[in-house]
Amino acid sequence: MACTFVIFGGYGDLTGRFLLPAVAHLRRSGDLPDGFRVVATARRDSDTDRYREWVAERLERHAGDLEPNERAATVELVSFEPADAADPDDVARVLAGAGDDLIAYLALPPAVYGPAIEALERAGLPAGTRLVVEKPFGESEDHARELNALVHRALPEEAVFRVDHFLGKQTVQNLVGLRFANRILEPVWNRDHIEAVDVVWDETLALEGRASYYDGAGALVDMVQNHLLQLLALLAMEPPATLDERDLRDRKYDVLRAVAHLDAGEVERSTVRGRYTAGEVDGRAVPAYVEEEGVDPGRGTETFAQVRLTVENWRWAGVPFTLRTGKALAADRREVVVRFRPVPHLAFCDQQPHPNELRLQLGPDRVALRLTVNGPGDPFSLRDAELDTDLGDPGLPAYATVLREVLVGNPILSIRGDEAEESWRIVEPVLAGWRAGRVPLQDAPAGSAGPAAAGSLSGP
Ligand code: BG6
Repeated sequence: MACTFVIFGGYGDLTGRFLLPAVAHLRRSGDLPDGFRVVATARRDSDTDRYREWVAERLERHAGDLEPNERAATVELVSFEPADAADPDDVARVLAGAGDDLIAYLALPPAVYGPAIEALERAGLPAGTRLVVEKPFGESEDHARELNALVHRALPEEAVFRVDHFLGKQTVQNLVGLRFANRILEPVWNRDHIEAVDVVWDETLALEGRASYYDGAGALVDMVQNHLLQLLALLAMEPPATLDERDLRDRKYDVLRAVAHLDAGEVERSTVRGRYTAGEVDGRAVPAYVEEEGVDPGRGTETFAQVRLTVENWRWAGVPFTLRTGKALAADRREVVVRFRPVPHLAFCDQQPHPNELRLQLGPDRVALRLTVNGPGDPFSLRDAELDTDLGDPGLPAYATVLREVLVGNPILSIRGDEAEESWRIVEPVLAGWRAGRVPLQDAPAGSAGPAAAGSLSGP
């Protein structure tokens, strides 16, 4: 049976930047099923020829590492049908031509998910249909719950894939390998030995023409509500009994449930929000965020978010987990830093060694452990030594890895409905406090380290 991959939101930035390049990589790696084809839809007046031209241009830009003939072969897999994802008649028409092995991919703004899911349900989905939904899943905890109820009218949870491409990143998967396949880490992986955990996603990238999406989301919803909370869940979870999707996702869900609610006062004390002004990043001039095309300065959208959370359970009570992300910053820094407590007694008088740190870098993928050792020459002096290893090239881009699991029907790299709801529960008080102006929106020039109030997390 030929598999048809129907994209709603065919002309979207995400489709051109991530999704179609992922299809191209899976074609090259031989992971597409026989007869696989893509039917892209959008409300635009277009046709297959014009759409293919658009796809070819996007693949050249975002899958430039593939040979031209590989990109061209991907373009051949694609056709276009004009359709409104929220119109049941349009959706029924598209599905009628799609066949029984169907993957429906919603690459749409969250406000359209509800009508689009209803339209799919009314059209009648063949048994075995997989539904893929982009992040952010909904706009609040209540909205996510409503969407989950709608989705479950049409499909069982195992057939729903809420995408978080971070789960396809090699170092993210390595959190599970590193934590649960090494005897030496587990005994110290708790509040008795770990002082703090930082999850940092600093980007030099600025807005990249994504105002129509980003200005309505901001850094907190774009990155913290999904990607960074998923990293926190994997870092803090209890050992799963198996790598079955149920065991793994149950354990992540437990962590999200245990993240303490931030009340209004804590939102003021534990969060920082910022926005870049004009500056220079890597020698190129970057305009102020509010000057970017499509940005409404009145919205007060943040491009920098830092949130300190705690996981109130036996293992982690009192340990701060700081999640931070920002755009147009001085340097790309994508890593998790686990900082250990000092030794209980130090016999080396007057010396204050740096704490032990385990650093997991995501892109380039690398693991490093900072230890304290004796300095050369003087046996009573101390210095840092770093053991590190590159994890190598992951092979497939993260989106392709996630999509490969969708193709085989395994939801392990997707967010479960209850995880999405809990993630909203965690960020909603922050969003509310920020909207109410309880935390100032601090300007910082592009190319800087972000707002001064963010302080410096464990440095490299
Ligand atoms: C996306 C966000 O989900 O992740 C972007 O929308 C962000 O704003 C991106 O830049 C970071 O992930 P990656 O894999 O592109 O580095």
